[in-house]
Amino acid sequence: MNKNLQIAVIGAGLMGHGIALTLARAGQYVAVTDPVADARATLSARIRNSLILMGDDEAQIARILKKIEIFDSVPGAVRNAFAVFEAAPEKLELKQRIFAEVEAHAPANAILASNTSVMPITGIMAGLQGRHRALGTHWWNPPHMIPLVEVIRTEWTGDATMAAMMALLADAGKTPVRVEKDVPGFIGNRLQHALWREAISLVERGICDAESVDTVVKSCFGRRLSVLGPLENADLVGTDLTLDIHKTVLADLEHRPGPSPYLERLVAEGRLGMKTGQGFRDWTPQEAEKVRNGVATHLRRLEGILPD
Ligand SMILES: NC(=O)c1ccc[n+]([C@@H]2O[C@H](COP(=O)([O-])OP(=O)(O)OC[C@H]3O[C@@H](n4cnc5c(N)ncnc54)[C@H](O)[C@@H]3O)[C@@H](O)[C@H]2O)c1
Repeated sequence: MNKNLQIAVIGAGLMGHGIALTLARAGQYVAVTDPVADARATLSARIRNSLILMGDDEAQIARILKKIEIFDSVPGAVRNAFAVFEAAPEKLELKQRIFAEVEAHAPANAILASNTSVMPITGIMAGLQGRHRALGTHWWNPPHMIPLVEVIRTEWTGDATMAAMMALLADAGKTPVRVEKDVPGFIGNRLQHALWREAISLVERGICDAESVDTVVKSCFGRRLSVLGPLENADLVGTDLTLDIHKTVLADLEHRPGPSPYLERLVAEGRLGMKTGQGFRDWTPQEAEKVRNGVATHLRRLEGILPD
């Protein structure tokens, strides 16, 4: 993979700053644009803080920041782009408008990627002239710490576009995975929310409390998950045993199509989780902070930034 490619990032928030620093850290030039002056003004400081947390020294930070340029509008940022990553707010019409402007100003062969969390890429890209070069890249938060990026193909995305994006991300140290059909939630969020649906149902049905759900995951199969995926696990115990278990348990699992009424009640009552002090469980500010710090420390250990 060439270094010094020109990459554009649209939106300099939580995800945009992490995508920009990841690609600049891998040696690419990154042009970032954001219409909000404060987002532009604070970008370098936010990237610096993230790089410090990743263990980079001052010389490395200076080298990376030199590779990042900030623009106040889309045309300048995308003019010479090899690839454009959009990380603007999760609103369909806004993303469609952004890509129309990007397409009008970017090189004709630039790869166009949206970082939408769950919106169909097909809907975002439908109005473009060059839909063969458009796809989804679903980075996870924090984008500079979580290895996975899901690369989502629409019915129009060309093979060369998929291959070039996979190569760019692999070169930047990410773990890209192909999603061959543009389905809601892609792969990771489908798996994650299948688990959350059953977790909520267990509480709703009075089978256990919320803390017990989390304890079972954290002290049991969650320990294996980062080294043993579910289908590896099925092969490990045997597909025959997996079939026997499914014959008994699947019919009893939660399978209603909409959100849980229990979850809807929490939201209606203003029990929004840690930010309001109550959700499935009660949280003091100190307890919430301990959870956040625990996640950050764990991720840094996995990255080898902190000792085990
Ligand atoms: N936060 C997450 O955990 C996460 C994870 C995966 C994907 N995503 C997706 O990534 C995208 C960005 O999310 P985020 O968490 O970084 O949001 P954010 O609010 O932190 O950042 C969005 C940025 O976009 C800027 N912006 C506003 N209007 C814009 C416009 N017209 N053009 C360009 N930029 C504009 C804002 O000023 C802000 O800096 C969303 O689509 C989100 O769903 C978020």
